[in-house]
Formats: sequence, C-alpha cells, structure tokens
Amino acid sequence: MKVLVLGSGGREHALVWKLAQSPRVTNIYCAPGNGGIAAEAECCAVDLKSLPAMVELAQRLGPDLIVVGPELPLTLGVVDEFSKRGWPTFGPSKAAAQLELSKSFAKEFLQRHRIPTAHYAICDSMAEVRDALPHFHAPIVVKADGLAAGKGVVIAASREEAATVAGEMLSGKMVGDAGLRVVLEEFLEGDELSFLVFSDGERVAPLVAAQDHKRIGDGDSGPNTGGMGAYSTQTIVDDQMRDWLVHHIARPVVEGMKAEGVEYKGVLYCGLMMTARGPMVLEFNCRFGDPETQPILMRLESDLLEAIEASIEGRLSDGDFRWSSDAAVCVVMASGGYPGAYEAGKKIRGLDDAAKVEGVKVFHAGTSRRDGDYYTTGGRVLGVTARAPELADAVERAYEAVRCIRFEGVHYRQDIAARALKK
Ligand code: AMP
Ligand code: GLY
Repeated sequence: MKVLVLGSGGREHALVWKLAQSPRVTNIYCAPGNGGIAAEAECCAVDLKSLPAMVELAQRLGPDLIVVGPELPLTLGVVDEFSKRGWPTFGPSKAAAQLELSKSFAKEFLQRHRIPTAHYAICDSMAEVRDALPHFHAPIVVKADGLAAGKGVVIAASREEAATVAGEMLSGKMVGDAGLRVVLEEFLEGDELSFLVFSDGERVAPLVAAQDHKRIGDGDSGPNTGGMGAYSTQTIVDDQMRDWLVHHIARPVVEGMKAEGVEYKGVLYCGLMMTARGPMVLEFNCRFGDPETQPILMRLESDLLEAIEASIEGRLSDGDFRWSSDAAVCVVMASGGYPGAYEAGKKIRGLDDAAKVEGVKVFHAGTSRRDGDYYTTGGRVLGVTARAPELADAVERAYEAVRCIRFEGVHYRQDIAARALKK
C-alpha cells in the first residue's frame, strides 16, 4: 500500500523510517520532507498552511493512508477534509486538536473532568491579570493561549515580572495573536515526562514514555527550544505508574472529549510534571512529539502501520504495540544561534561515519540534499538516535556518532539523559 506522511522534521523522518519497515508498505511519500527523508521516501512539495494544496496533493498521489506529523495542518482541519473524502488519515480532527491549539480550552477541560493540573487563571485583559496575581506565589508561569512554537511560556520570578510579561503577550507584541489571551499558572516542580498514547476515539493504548530536554543549554539552562534531545527506557515509568497515567489522565481525556461530542483519534501527547503531589498535566499536544518520537520508534518492534490502522478503524488495543526493553537516546544537533536567528546552508560532513556506529540511526530534521551532499536548512538539523540494552551504552553510541558529524556553528547538548544515568 501507498502511505503519505505530512511534515518535514526529525519526527517525520522517524515515521517514514518505521513505516517503511512494514511489509505491507510498497510506496512511501513525504510532503514536503527534507534532505534525509528524500533518501528513503519520495518527497513532494506542499504548503502545510494550505488545505487546498494538501487536498490536491493527496488527490494526485492517491495514498491508502495519510499520517499527519505537525500540529499546524491538524489545527487547520486536514483530517476533517481528508476523512470527508473517505481517505484514511491518522490524526485528530480540528475540534479535537483544540486541546493543543488553546491552553485555556485545555485547562478548563482538565478542570471539568477533574484531571490533575496546576492551578491557573485565564485572563483576557490586564485588569484580569491584576485581579488574579495575588492568588499566585512566585515563580509564576505565564502562557500565551495559542500556538507559539515553544516561545509562549515564561517563568516569571515575581508578580511584577509576571504582570510585565502578561502585558507584552496581551498587547500582541510578544507572540502575536497567540498571546491575546494568557493563562497564569502555578509553578510545578518535578521531572517532566512525555506520555504519548494512541486513541481510537474510545480506547487508548500507551506508547513507551520518554523525556525531552527543552532548554538549549546543558543543565537545563538558557531559552526553551522545540526539544534538544530525548530518551526512553523501560524504567522511565514502571507498569503501575503507566496504568495510573492511562486511568487517571489519558483515558479520562478521551472519554471526556467523547462526552462533549468530540471523538479524539490519533496520538495524544500528555506533557506531564511528576510532582510530589503526583503527576500533573502541563500541556497536551495532538501529535507525536519531536524529538521524543525518534527514541520511542527506535524501541518499537511491532508494525506501526497496524497500530495506526487500528486507531483509524476504532479497534485499538495494547496488543497493537510490542516494545524492546532496550534504551534509546536522541541527541539533537542544531544550528549555531538556535532558538534565535541562525545561518543555514552549511555543508554537513561525517554522516557516513556516524551511520556506521552500532545501533545508530541519524534522523534528519532541517537538511537539504544537493549533488549527493547534505546542507543545513533549519534550527534543529539532525536527531542522532541510538539504541542499546543499557541506557549508558545508548548514550555512548549516540555521542560517538555525534562526534563524527561536523558543520559550521553546530551546537548540541552534552548531557542528554545524564540525570537518568545519575539516578
Ligand atoms: P508547555 O508548552 O505548557 O509545555 O510549557 C513549556 C515548558 O515550560 C514545559 O515543558 C515546562 O518545562 C515549563 N512549564 C510549563 N508549565 C509549567 C508549570 N506549571 N510549572 C513549571 N514549569 C512549567
Ligand atoms: N518535544 C516537544 C514537542 O514535540 O512539543
């Protein structure tokens, strides 16, 4: 069968790589894809901001299955458009994607369904901010309501700073329309966990959990990014915790959406803080995480295609996934300057040597290919991912491969999974 993956990042490279392993997949397309994906799939240009362009492309290619990677096409309603034409598409509808698109919607939904989350206030004006602030202790988390590509969350050290940040968001100066409503939130402490499940609208089946590293610098310093690395191990959550997360978070979300008339199908990404008071929801994403998907799919031993079809057809079960007990680690190699301004077009060397390291797969995020050479095109350039029975060995292999690769200005974190290794 023919499969089309929409998107162009490391997550989509991992999806293409895994789907291509399915014995039933004969053709794999990726739109728009990137330099690395082009070596494994047929890449087609498309504007992911344009529903008509995506419909036209799918009509032309005639895929038997479409898998949507990023949030933008999901929040525009690409699944609604495709499904109404009878094209099997993996991902939530526009209405279901509200859980990611609007933090205020997500917070009120969580409260309605008594799912644990930080205390919060939703504010549409500075007057509301000033009324709410006395109810919070510093530090205070200030969040833009809408999609802001990782730039919409500020941890303010004082009420005064929180008021200033909220003011900049509300005026549209900081993150445009995404900040015209803000959510103030209690600051939570603990380990963050990315807990992803598949849903078929009724049932959920968990993937193995992962931990992202969101800050640009070692020791979680510097500004937030899309994610600088991630790891997944068998022990990151035990069976008891996984069942708790399914029963108290993932399943109530899907059941709550259904009770409100919205079927949640596809991947539900629960961004959690494991606090002393128990796990709490920080955010939802309506899609696979990037870079979490890279180590998660490295550990998947069963056929991803089968699980996706089970979700679309409403017959999902835990049995759709079989996992390796190995650990997997992804180290993101970024352009110098990211997450701020950076230069693109740098030649990437050493990819062949990196690929020879045992257990390593280099997923491309922001690359292009020209005359057999690869060049940087984005902030996050590569996701060097390694698998091994022990986490320490997976980390060692990933960094051995990273050290083979060179491009001007390259930056990567040296401490991916370091905290887990210390424990
Ligand atoms: P979000 O987009 O809501 O996941 O926020 C981005 C990042 O900000 C999270 O990954 C956390 O590191 C941090 N963050 C968000 N909300 C909170 C909170 N209530 N307490 C502490 N840190 C938070
Ligand atoms: N790695 C975080 C995200 O995908 O949103």
